[in-house]
Amino acid sequence: TIYNCSVIELSKIHNRAGNITPVHGNIDVPFHIERVYYLYDVPSGETRGGHAHKELHQLIVAASGSFDVVLDDGKNKRTISLNRPNYGLYVTPYIWRELVNFSSGAVLLVLASMKYHESDYIREYSEFLNIKNEL
Ligand code: TYD
Repeated sequence: TIYNCSVIELSKIHNRAGNITPVHGNIDVPFHIERVYYLYDVPSGETRGGHAHKELHQLIVAASGSFDVVLDDGKNKRTISLNRPNYGLYVTPYIWRELVNFSSGAVLLVLASMKYHESDYIREYSEFLNIKNEL
């Protein structure tokens, strides 16, 4: 298993007119929520991700459609399929992730603990492995 990463079941408020899933920082997810972004209009067959973060914590949710997240801690890889809006994948720092197999119309919602800083990214896999071996 991938150290510290886990699928979190979120609450679902259901009635005959549909569902609502509220998410509170530090309550429903184990970090403060500073930023929200979403990926959409991903062309068929396209992959995204391909990086790790040094400090950023994220919850990744399939708000619509489905996709797979390949997590890699430098030793083990694990593929998590997300396809329900009331489940989120908690991804901790120093985990390499690839986002693959997007269904058409998929919306990948990210709740993130910090603002965007390019300096927080590790974008070279070889650098990622070097850092993991030093930790
Ligand atoms: P990136 O995180 O590499 O995308 P993905 O992991 O989905 O493939 O970001 C792609 C580009 O978008 C990159 O140039 C940085 C920019 N970006 C922002 O400016 N702000 C943001 O909050 C995010 C997530 C990305």
